[in-house]
Amino acid sequence: MKFNVLIVDDEKNIRQGLGKALEMDGHNIFLAEDGQEALDIIHEEEVDLVIADLRMPRLSGEELLRRVVDQWPTIPVIILTGHGTIETAVQAMRDGAYDFLTKPVNLDRLSLLVRRALSSRELVMQHRQMQEELDKQRRFTNIIGKSSAMHRIFDVVRQVAPTKASVLITGESGVGKELVADALHNLSDRKDKPFIKVHCAALSESLLESELFGHEKGAFTGAVARKRGRFELSHMGSIFLDEIGEISQSVQIKILRVLQDKKFERVGGEETLEVDTRIISATNKDLKAEIEKGTFREDLFYRLNVVNIDIPPLRERKEDIPLLVSAFIKEFAQENNKPVEAIDHKARALMYNYSWPGNVRELRNSIESAVVMCKGTVITPDDLPPSIAQDSESNDIRISVGSTLAEAEREMIRSTLNAHNGNKSRTAEVLGIGRKTLHRKIADYHLDDGRRAPAAAGEASAADDGAANDTAAAGDAEG
Ligand SMILES: Nc1ncnc2c1ncn2[C@@H]1O[C@H](COP(=O)(O)OP(=O)(O)OP(=O)(O)O)[C@@H](O)[C@H]1O
Ligand SMILES: [Mg+2]
Repeated sequence: MKFNVLIVDDEKNIRQGLGKALEMDGHNIFLAEDGQEALDIIHEEEVDLVIADLRMPRLSGEELLRRVVDQWPTIPVIILTGHGTIETAVQAMRDGAYDFLTKPVNLDRLSLLVRRALSSRELVMQHRQMQEELDKQRRFTNIIGKSSAMHRIFDVVRQVAPTKASVLITGESGVGKELVADALHNLSDRKDKPFIKVHCAALSESLLESELFGHEKGAFTGAVARKRGRFELSHMGSIFLDEIGEISQSVQIKILRVLQDKKFERVGGEETLEVDTRIISATNKDLKAEIEKGTFREDLFYRLNVVNIDIPPLRERKEDIPLLVSAFIKEFAQENNKPVEAIDHKARALMYNYSWPGNVRELRNSIESAVVMCKGTVITPDDLPPSIAQDSESNDIRISVGSTLAEAEREMIRSTLNAHNGNKSRTAEVLGIGRKTLHRKIADYHLDDGRRAPAAAGEASAADDGAANDTAAAGDAEG
């Protein structure tokens, strides 16, 4: 990605010197000699980063900073200060500057800082692009996905939704079967009529029967009044029979009759009722195997399965993961009122490589917890649930040259603890030390703060800069 960097300084030599240095790093450079000219440029161009001197004619750096933070809060601003004016630099940081550099500017430091600032900017931009893609999709349904498998599903949904064909949705738990059912109803001309959902596994056989077909007063003990069933309630609309693989033989026969003749009786009733309803069902069972075993009627299967929509597990359509991650970050950041905007490269890679046995539901829950744990604006591996972070971390400990023995030991203990979900007996055993020794070291290294300890790499970069969380994240993102 090529970025536009705006350099604002009233001293021509500095302006041009910095511009040349950053141009060599591959950035597009804009130069302005005061705050006013800088604002004009920001209005006209897509500026990604501002580097500004403080004391300038017409509009000062302080004022420029305030306006940028106010109107373009995602553009980072790096402030240049003369020597001996550290207070003004600190004030600028309070006002929202990304960081500051003292003059004369050390060009290596400048280039590093710019890289960092832009890499978090890049994360935010990527996140934005995803959001735009998502907004486009949302016009269709709430189902998110860009894999070819999901595109095929979108096509089938669009095609069969307006028809009355029965649809059987299959797939592992958490793949989004209910969302597809919602889409089928919402994209049909029945969308303004009732959409009734029945969770077949949650009810006993007799309760399910009266739930589906209703009952007459006195049909059984407790039937104090006539009750209309879900089929009746779904008249002119659609009914969703979730976990259809769980229903008993006797209920299967009655559902078959509704499918064939649209007819049924309430429990304990004589009157035959007729419904016009669209039947959508779902299961994570292999119904063909159930038919073999004799627990599911073959004739019912063929009636339900006029159209089959099989949703593949998430591990078989990993291209969908980044889009889902972005959508859930946005959802949970809003819900929890947190400024989380993106996820760093390492955490993203962990999400991508994980096998997701619980499919999209598990991914969604993980992002919810990561957003809640996140301290800055960017999710890092430390924010992820241990099961995901551990996946790739467990066999691999990174200790950089230049670490002290104590730092290395701390990192060994931290990683081993994380890999064993904080289980201390197991950790002591693996490390070949006694439990007491482990407890002492945990206390000495402050590893016992109730949550996963931050990784050494992240700490080092945060300590280096004395800067905020997102800088550390950006440091990670480069690696
Ligand atoms: N493609 C997707 N886009 C957005 N959200 C999704 C997607 N797939 C699933 N989800 C979300 O994941 C969660 C689980 O989805 P859903 O309830 O539809 O799964 P399911 O296949 O019916 O699972 P189960 O078999 O356990 O009932 C829901 O919160 C749902 O909104
Ligand atoms: Mg479901």
